[in-house]
Amino acid sequence: MWFLNKECTSKVRLDGKTVVITGANSGIGKETARNLYARGARVILACRNMEMANKAVEDIKNNPPPRINKDEYKNNAGELVVYSLDLCSLKSVRDCAKNLLTNEAAIHILINNAGIAAYPSYEKTEDGNEMTLQVNYLGHFLLTLLLLPKMQKSSPKCRIVNVSSLAHFWADIDFDNINLERSYGPIKSYAQSKLANILFTKELARKLKEAGIHGINTYCLHPGMIPTRLFRYGDRVVFPGFTFCCNMFTQLFYKNAEQGAQTTIYCSVDEKVANETGLYYSNCNVVTPYRMAKNPQYPEKLWNVSCRLLHLDPEKDFTTILETVSRQIH
Ligand SMILES: NC(=O)c1ccc[n+]([C@@H]2O[C@H](COP(=O)([O-])OP(=O)(O)OC[C@H]3O[C@@H](n4cnc5c(N)ncnc54)[C@H](OP(=O)(O)O)[C@@H]3O)[C@@H](O)[C@H]2O)c1
Repeated sequence: MWFLNKECTSKVRLDGKTVVITGANSGIGKETARNLYARGARVILACRNMEMANKAVEDIKNNPPPRINKDEYKNNAGELVVYSLDLCSLKSVRDCAKNLLTNEAAIHILINNAGIAAYPSYEKTEDGNEMTLQVNYLGHFLLTLLLLPKMQKSSPKCRIVNVSSLAHFWADIDFDNINLERSYGPIKSYAQSKLANILFTKELARKLKEAGIHGINTYCLHPGMIPTRLFRYGDRVVFPGFTFCCNMFTQLFYKNAEQGAQTTIYCSVDEKVANETGLYYSNCNVVTPYRMAKNPQYPEKLWNVSCRLLHLDPEKDFTTILETVSRQIH
């Protein structure tokens, strides 16, 4: 309910900081970009739809977030830059990372936000992975590994934020069938990918610690229920008119996109969580995730399967994996 929604109250400025947000041309990603731009950050919108991304840039430039007046906004905002990224293609992920590593002096905050939900039919990407798994999780896994060395050079106080969902509640992962070849379901694939976001956040925090890499913290979150384009396939998957009903329902009872961006912003900037890592948040609070996200074997199992899907040797130590993945783009 709207009256229970919490906001990120931090007034922290991000002057001199660079933030990468995937899928920032609409919804939660766009509102996150608006807020961090208002704080003075150089905000990179990593998007596949360039036309929408450029429109988002214009919209963000001309319209401040609530409670900031236009003059204050114009004088204190940062920069907005668009990069091309299509998570359906690992080549596009590598190209985007290469461009970022070449052109950007530093990356302080990475927000893995892009996502699709309830993709109607079973489809594989050009890389041979189930579509939702790759867009929501595996593409971000690769992007993160590729950007980590730059973040390491930009640390301390770097953050990696993975936008997950409460939908992980319904999920389990069959590690021998992670591409869902034997049992695809539109909701199942979404829930699995969102569970993967949480497990990755945990495991990455552990790997960073184990490798003695300090100053990069990881976070994941459920943003709330927000009427966005995320439910665009609902009409085909659930029933005709589903998207309309869902958007009306969420508009009446839940959050708008600006409210829905608050937990992402909280995890990205708030001083209160500066010393936390590997945890799951909802409504600007740390919360305990559900069932399978608490399975102690799952984070490492997922890490190993993800490495294999990217032709990396999971037996190698973390630093070697980072070096190997970096060599793939040079
Ligand atoms: N809305 C909710 O109620 C809700 C609840 C829980 C979690 N979430 C999570 O919040 C995140 C943001 O979703 P949203 O609600 O803001 O939905 P949205 O408005 O549809 O935003 C999703 C973004 O992801 C981008 N995207 C999709 N496929 C992509 C690809 N292959 N490569 C690059 N970008 C791609 C979309 O770009 P295009 O324009 O190119 O499609 C769009 O910019 C998602 O991770 C979602 O799972 C949302």
